[in-house]
Amino acid sequence: MKFTGNHRLSALVFLAFLLPTGLSAKGSNVDKPGERKIFIDSLMSKMTLDEKLGQLNLLAWDGSLQTGAAANSGVSEKVKDGLVGGLFNIESKDVRMQVQQLAVEQSRLGIPIIFAQDVIHGHRTVFPIPLGLSCSWDPELIKQTARAAAVEASRDGIDWVFSPMVDVSRDPRWGRVAEGAGEDPYLGSLIAKAMVVGYQGDDMAKPDAVMACVKHFALYGAAESGRDYNTVDMSEIKIFQDYLPPYQAAVDAGVGSVMTSFNDINGVPATSNKWLIDDVLRKDWGFSGFIATDYTAIREMGAHGLGDLESCSALALDAGIDMDMVSEGFVNTLKTSLASGAVTMAEINLACRRVLEAKYKLGLFVDPFLRLKEADGNSLQNKRFMDLALDAARKSAVLLKNENQTLPLKEGQKIAVVGPLADSKKDAMGTWVLNGDETRVTTVLEGLRKRSVVSYAKGAKLTDDGAMANLIGYSMDEQSNDELIAEALEVAQSADVVVAVLGESAAMNGEAASMADISLQASQKRLLHKLVETGKPVVLVLVTGRPVTLEWENENCAAILQCWSAGSQTGNAVADILYGDYNPSGKLTMSFPRKVGQVPVYYSMKTTGRPFWDGVKYTSRYLDVANSPLYPFGYGLSYTSFTMNDIQLNKTTFSENDTLTATVSLTNTGGMAGEETVQLYVRDLVATITRPQKELKHFQKVYLKPGETKTIGFKITIDDLKFYNSALKYQAEPGEFRLEIGFNSRDIKAINFTLE
Ligand code: NOJ
Repeated sequence: MKFTGNHRLSALVFLAFLLPTGLSAKGSNVDKPGERKIFIDSLMSKMTLDEKLGQLNLLAWDGSLQTGAAANSGVSEKVKDGLVGGLFNIESKDVRMQVQQLAVEQSRLGIPIIFAQDVIHGHRTVFPIPLGLSCSWDPELIKQTARAAAVEASRDGIDWVFSPMVDVSRDPRWGRVAEGAGEDPYLGSLIAKAMVVGYQGDDMAKPDAVMACVKHFALYGAAESGRDYNTVDMSEIKIFQDYLPPYQAAVDAGVGSVMTSFNDINGVPATSNKWLIDDVLRKDWGFSGFIATDYTAIREMGAHGLGDLESCSALALDAGIDMDMVSEGFVNTLKTSLASGAVTMAEINLACRRVLEAKYKLGLFVDPFLRLKEADGNSLQNKRFMDLALDAARKSAVLLKNENQTLPLKEGQKIAVVGPLADSKKDAMGTWVLNGDETRVTTVLEGLRKRSVVSYAKGAKLTDDGAMANLIGYSMDEQSNDELIAEALEVAQSADVVVAVLGESAAMNGEAASMADISLQASQKRLLHKLVETGKPVVLVLVTGRPVTLEWENENCAAILQCWSAGSQTGNAVADILYGDYNPSGKLTMSFPRKVGQVPVYYSMKTTGRPFWDGVKYTSRYLDVANSPLYPFGYGLSYTSFTMNDIQLNKTTFSENDTLTATVSLTNTGGMAGEETVQLYVRDLVATITRPQKELKHFQKVYLKPGETKTIGFKITIDDLKFYNSALKYQAEPGEFRLEIGFNSRDIKAINFTLE
C-alpha cells in the first residue's frame, strides 16, 4: 500500500487527539523543557504498558541489511499495534512514508516513528571514509561534511543517524578503524564535536537537522587482537585517559543519543554496564539524551554468558539502556520482569520518556512528516556538496613517498592505470554507504582519463583467497592470474609511468572485516612486483580502509599516495593530486606498522624501563624489526618543502594560572604553495605514574606560498598537562616537561619547561 494522503492533515488530526488540553508541541529553539515535560506527561498518561515498551523497541525493517544473526519480521503489524518506537536502515523514502502513515493513522495513539540510518560519511554524496577524513586534520571541513550528510539524509525522511563513530583504535587489524578518527584521543575529540554539531545544527527540530548518535560506547576500538566484537580488558587510567575523551566530547557538544558497543569491558558487556552508562555517562558527564544498544546486543549478552533474553533485558534496562536494537527483548520480556520485580515501572517510564523526548526535540510531534515531505536537493545544492566532497577527498589523501619527484606527473607522459581498485565505484565509496549515489562517483581511472589518454588493465584479482571472497561477496574473475598480469604488463611496457591502484574492496574493511595479515593481498602483490620489474616508475595509489604494511612497497615504488576510499570524488581528487593541481596535505592519524607483529604500535606508547637502544639486546625491542612504525602518526609529504626554526618559549617556568607561549616560524622552501600541519606534543618527564612518550596537545594548519614565512604561536596552559593519576584524579603534577613541535610525531624540535 502506498500512502499519498495529506500529511499535514494527518499531523493535525494526530495532534488534536494527543493534546486535548490545547497544548501544542513546539519545535526546539522554542523547546522549553517545561512545555516538553507537560506534553510528554500528558502523552504518557494515556499509554498502556505495552505501548511504553513499544517505544523502547528499535527494529530493522524486514529485509534491510542484516548485520547479525537475528532479523525482525512482521514490522508493519507491530507498528500498527504501537509496538515500535524506531526503525532503521529502510531502503527508501517511500517506505518510510508508508510506515509513518501506519504509525500516525493506524496505531492507537499515533506516536510517530523515529527513522534512523547508518549515515557514516555522507548520504547520497559520499565523502571519504572517516579515517580518511580525519587525515585532513580539519574539524571545520569535517563538520561541513556532516552538515551536508544531514541535509541529504533529512530530505530522505531520516531523523537520526548512527554517527559519529569515535572509537579510538590503535589496531589496524580491526576493520572498523575505517569508521573512526584514528589513534589519538585529542584529535578524535575535536572531530567528534565537529560531527555532532554538523549533524544536529543549532536546532534539531529544523527539517534539515538530524539527531546524532555517538558510538560505540565504549572502547570498542580496543577489541583484543583486533578481532571484531572481541573482549576489552583495560585499566581505568587508560580508559579515562585515552579512550573515553572523544565520547565525552560528543556529549559536551550536545549529542542527542548514544549507542552502546558489543564488547564486554573488564567482564561486563557494555550494554549492561551500569558503571559506564549510569555512573560515567549520565552522572559524571551529565548526559540527558537516550541510549540505544547496538544490533542484537541484548540478545548477544546470552552468548557473553549472562543468561537468557529475559534476564539480559532486565540487566540492560537497569543499566540505563532506553532502546533495544533488534533483540525485541524489552518489548517481549520486560512485562514479566516487571511482575517478578526484576525491573520497576519507574525504569520503564524513564526509558520511554527519554525516547519521547528525542522525538519531541526532533519536531516529530509538531509534524511527523517533517523530514518526509522535504523535496529532493536541487542541482545547485548537489554541486555544492560535490565540491565539498572534492575538497574533502583531496585533503584526506596522504602522500607517503615521492622519490625523485615522480609526482606530480608531467604533461605528455604516457600513463598506464592498473589494478582491481582502479575502476570500481563501489569500492571508491567504501564501507557503509547505504544510500551512496554511484552515478556521482568518479573512479581513479575515470579521473585520470579526463586529464590524458591512459591505457588500462585490471591486472589482478582483488584476492586469490576463495574463503575470503565468499565472506566479502567477491566473485572471482574468469581470467587467470597469468592472463590478468600479462595484460597489465602490456599496457605498462608502453607507458612512461604506471599508476597501480591497489588495496581493499569496501567489504574488506568496516564491520566484521578484521584481518590478521594487513599487507596487500597476494594477488595484488604479485602484480606489483611484476610492474616494478619492468623498470617503469610505479606510483602506488592505495584505496584502503586501514593502515596496511608497506615495507616492500616503500622500498620499491617510486611514489605512494594513500587515498583511502575517498568517496564520490575519488577519481577527480586523485587526478588533481597526481597532476599537481592540488598539493597533498593529509597527515596520518594512525601509525602504519612495518609488520603486523608490531601491533599495537602508536605514537603515544610508553618508554618502558628498558627503552629501545640500537644494537643492545636486553632492551624493549624486536630482534627482527625496528620498534618504530614505517610511517608515524602525523606523517604526510607535500610537493613543496617546509622548514621550521627552533622553538621559542616566552618563559621556561610557569605556574598554575599562567600561560606559556611557544613560537616557531615556518618557511615554505620549495617551489609550490602548500599547507603544513604543525603539531605540538608534550611529555611529562617525571610523574607519579608512567606517562606516554608524547601526547598531541595542539596543532595548526598553515598555508604558505613559495618563499613565504609565517610565525605561529601556541598557548599552553595547565590543562594541557593534566592526566588521570592512580586515584583517577585529573590533575597536573609540577615538574619538568618536554615540549615538541614538528611536522609529524617523529620529526620534531624540542625544548624543556617547568611547571612550578
Ligand atoms: C551494527 C554496527 O556495529 C553499528 O555501527 C550500526 O550502527 C548498527 N549495526 C546498525 O546498522
